[in-house]
Formats: sequence, C-alpha cells, structure tokens
Amino acid sequence: MGRSLFAAVMLTGMCLVSWAFGQEEMTRVNSDAFENPSRHEALFVHDAHNEKAGLGECASCHHIFENGVLQKDDSSVGTPCSECHQPSDRGETPSLMRAFHLKCKSCHQELKSGPLMCGECHKRPTRWIRNQEATGRPAG
Ligand code: HEC
Ligand code: HEC
Ligand code: HEC
Ligand code: HEC
Repeated sequence: MGRSLFAAVMLTGMCLVSWAFGQEEMTRVNSDAFENPSRHEALFVHDAHNEKAGLGECASCHHIFENGVLQKDDSSVGTPCSECHQPSDRGETPSLMRAFHLKCKSCHQELKSGPLMCGECHKRPTRWIRNQEATGRPAG
C-alpha cells in the first residue's frame, strides 16, 4: 500500500468517527478531510436545504458509479464523499474540492437559485448564523 493511500485510509477512519451522527444535525459540510482547510466550512443545513430545494433522491448526491456508469438504484448514504474523492483528480473522478464545487454550484447555477459566491457558502460563523444553525433554519 502506497504511503499516500495509507494516509488516506487513516484519514477516512478518523472521519468515520464524525460520521456517527445523522444528517438531521448537520448545518455545515465538515472540512476535516482537507489537509489544511483555508475557508470557513460551507453552510449546508442538510435536511432543510434538501427539503427546500425539493431533493428527495438521496442518491442524487450520495451516488455510486460502476465502471463510470451511474447506478441509479444504489446510493452511498453513510459513506463520506472523501472516501472516493481524493485530494487530486483521479481519471474521471474529480478531486474532493472539485466534487463539492461541481455538485453544489452546478445546480445553483442551473436553477438560478442558491449561492455561487465563495463567501455565501464559506460564511464566517457569527453568533447570528450560529443561532440560525441552532434552530435548523438555513442562513442566507
Ligand atoms: C455552493 C457552495 C460553495 C461555493 C459557492 C463555494 N464553495 Fe468552496 N467548498 C464548498 C464545500 C461544500 C466544500 C467542502 C468543505 C467545506 O465545507 O468547506 C468546499 C471546499 C472548498 C475548499 C477546500 C477546503 C478548504 O477550506 O480549504 C476551498 C479552498 C474552497 N472551497 C474555496 C472556494 C472558493 C475560492 C470559492 C469561490 C470561488 C468557493 N469555494 C465557493 C462549497 C462552496
Ligand atoms: C444536495 C446533496 C445531498 C442530498 C440530496 C442528500 N445529501 Fe446527505 N449529505 C450531503 C453532503 C454534502 C454530506 C456531507 C458529506 C461528507 O462530509 O463527506 C451529507 C451527509 C450525510 C450523512 C452523514 C451526516 C454527518 O453528520 O456527517 C447522512 C447520514 C446523509 N447525508 C443522509 C442522507 C439521506 C438519507 C438523504 C436522502 C433523504 C440525503 N443524505 C440526501 C449531501 C446530500
Ligand atoms: C462510493 C464512491 C463515491 C462516493 C461516496 C461519492 N462519489 Fe462522487 N464520484 C465517484 C466516482 C467513481 C465518480 C466518477 C464517475 C465517472 O466515472 O464519471 C464520481 C463523480 C462525481 C462528480 C462528477 C460527476 C457528476 O456526477 O457530476 C461529482 C460532482 C461528485 N462525484 C460529487 C460527489 C459528492 C459531493 C459526494 C458526497 C456527497 C460524492 N461524490 C460521493 C464516486 C463516489
Ligand atoms: C440539485 C440542486 C442543488 C444541489 C445539488 C445543491 N443545492 Fe444548495 N440550493 C438549491 C436551491 C434550489 C436553493 C434555494 C432554496 C430556496 O431558498 O428556496 C439552495 C440554497 C442553498 C443555500 C442557501 C441557504 C439555504 O439553505 O437555502 C446554501 C448555503 C446552499 N444551497 C448550499 C449548498 C451546498 C453546500 C451544496 C452541496 C453540498 C448544495 N447547496 C447543493 C439547490 C441545490
């Protein structure tokens, strides 16, 4: 096993600890999988966001591919994105950062709804925002 793969596996193991929580509590996308995060974690009040955006299909984000083919009837709920998306691009598999940006921004762009500016997602956790997060209401 290569050293970087070993590191990735270790990191994944550590991330799984925080994955013991349900998505109901989630208000931001955790950035622990990035070696040196430079931004505030992106706002994402999981359940409220998906309800508002009408995203009933878990697998539209938690996807599974086999040999490049999307498996429409399978989902990867329970598996962090970082388990499959590495720090850099691997063939057709975008890097972890690109995976998030592609997934999140392309839909906002397409629907002309939802934030596209860096600071709208990577928002500083002010007290006002923490309060909104605590009540489960999406900020912004
Ligand atoms: C639609 C929301 C969204 C927008 C807009 C967005 N990002 Fe992100 N970005 C994310 C998510 C989700 C992650 C995954 C980790 C996290 O939560 O910070 C991420 C991760 C990152 C990371 C890697 C982790 C880190 O903190 O170093 C960087 C760097 C980054 N974004 C920079 C930017 C920049 C620069 C812009 C504007 C050009 C931008 N992002 C716009 C959602 C967004
Ligand atoms: C708009 C995209 C999107 C949709 C749709 C979506 N999720 Fe998620 N979900 C995410 C992201 C992003 C994460 C954080 C992933 C990571 O940290 O690697 C997440 C994390 C989770 C987690 C882990 C929670 C945690 O605290 O880390 C669970 C459980 C989960 N989702 C379940 C679901 C279920 C069940 C559905 C369908 C009802 C669903 N998701 C639909 C994007 C989505
Ligand atoms: C079980 C492994 C796995 C998990 C978990 C996973 N992905 Fe992927 N993802 C892949 C593979 C493999 C590809 C490349 C597909 C191809 O060959 O075109 C991909 C492609 C993508 C793409 C580009 C193609 C597209 O559908 O737009 C985006 C964006 C993406 N993933 C985002 C995410 C996000 C965000 C998460 C977490 C919510 C996630 N992925 C979780 C394996 C995974
Ligand atoms: C398939 C479409 C889709 C995807 C994928 C998606 N969004 Fe959104 N998002 C929306 C829509 C639609 C809105 C506007 C909802 C409203 O205000 O009515 C929105 C709004 C938001 C907002 C503003 C506050 C809120 O919750 O209403 C944030 C922050 C946000 N999205 C972050 C993200 C992040 C981070 C991701 C990726 C993990 C993501 N979105 C993926 C459709 C999407």
